[in-house]
Amino acid sequence: MKDIRVAIIGTGVVSRQHMERYRKIPNVKVIAACDINKGKLEAWCKEWDVENAYTDFRAMLQRDDIDAVDVCLHNNLHLPMALEVMKAGKHCYCEKPMAGSYIDAKTMYETSKKYNKELSIHLDFIFHPQTRLAREMVEADDLGHVYHARSVGYRRKMRPGLDVPPPAFSMDFITKKYAEHGALYDMGVYHISQMLYILGAPELERVSGSVYQELPIDPRLPGANRMEVEEMGVGFAKYKGGLTLDIIETWAIHMDDLGTGFVAGSKGGLRFTRNSGQSGLKFITEVRGRTIESDLQVAANASAETFVNPDLRFFADDQANWIAYLSGEISQRYDTAWLALQTMKVSEGIFLSSKLGREVTADEIESLSVSSAIRSQETEWGTFRYDI
Ligand SMILES: NC(=O)c1ccc[n+]([C@@H]2O[C@H](COP(=O)([O-])OP(=O)(O)OC[C@H]3O[C@@H](n4cnc5c(N)ncnc54)[C@H](O)[C@@H]3O)[C@@H](O)[C@H]2O)c1
Repeated sequence: MKDIRVAIIGTGVVSRQHMERYRKIPNVKVIAACDINKGKLEAWCKEWDVENAYTDFRAMLQRDDIDAVDVCLHNNLHLPMALEVMKAGKHCYCEKPMAGSYIDAKTMYETSKKYNKELSIHLDFIFHPQTRLAREMVEADDLGHVYHARSVGYRRKMRPGLDVPPPAFSMDFITKKYAEHGALYDMGVYHISQMLYILGAPELERVSGSVYQELPIDPRLPGANRMEVEEMGVGFAKYKGGLTLDIIETWAIHMDDLGTGFVAGSKGGLRFTRNSGQSGLKFITEVRGRTIESDLQVAANASAETFVNPDLRFFADDQANWIAYLSGEISQRYDTAWLALQTMKVSEGIFLSSKLGREVTADEIESLSVSSAIRSQETEWGTFRYDI
């Protein structure tokens, strides 16, 4: 089993979740970290026992003992930094959403192919056992003709930087320059990618949608005058073959229950039974003319499932999956970058439709998408100019 030496760029909130996961993977060594905030970086390196600290990512990327780099920056820095990483000859794992715009995500995907580097995007929900079963059932025709699905995610009131002030969430989540968009990107990416995976990554044809920012903002909150992105996005997408997907994703809404995601087929339906889509799956069908509803018992199945297919431990989450592939423990991994790109496409369709006030086609999303990537960044260490 080959050791994979990883470097982290961005030692903020999410990097901690990444470190918890790397600690559980025996053949990963996080050997370097980079952040433009020196105090934060040094405290982080001490806490996680990482020896090499850099404020300049280019100095870090020059090291020839780094195999792969984990980018934990905000959305509009994903493309510039992922390009720097892959052009420096390293594999790249990057936070979600893939980028600030569809065209930027596409550039990331094409660059990974051009430089033959493994690009993976943090799309947690596709690794859950209930997602796996749902995909298997759709593929095996257990649901019959699948004609409609719903992607849902909501919080009663949890706008980052507002209802959950820093340091729990940085203000960059609601700042257009860094995030580009709000809830539809931040949380929607998990639910939409999960649905697209279950549906077999269908080909998008057209989308209509709207985005909203309606709830009042308490002026005493730190991000009160910084809310520049949508708190809610709603869309209706049509895929090749007539399949439809409706989407609702919100950080905040005066509503008690928006239900959960589902997949509807002519022979049966699947419903996630928790709002986040993270757990619970119900199969709804008909047996001998009687309607039946049954729940997946994830815990009861776990041991036997892993015994029968020991490789499943490499499919526990996207970091484990990417590392196992890089170290040669598995010969195939989930193409999270492709799925993230398809997720970006439908999301951008909603933003574009909202802006134009009409339905848009997949071709229009391709041709009208504009890069939102940060090309130059002022830091106390000088101006970083990105080669895009
Ligand atoms: N916070 C979460 O719970 C969470 C969960 C899942 C995914 N994400 C995603 O992770 C990304 C980062 O979110 P976060 O909450 O960790 O942000 P954060 O603001 O806590 O951390 C980002 C860090 O990047 C550093 N940085 C900025 N530019 C840099 C550069 N050029 N070189 C080195 N460091 C630089 C900042 O100083 C900061 O420490 C976002 O895309 C977000 O969508 C966050």
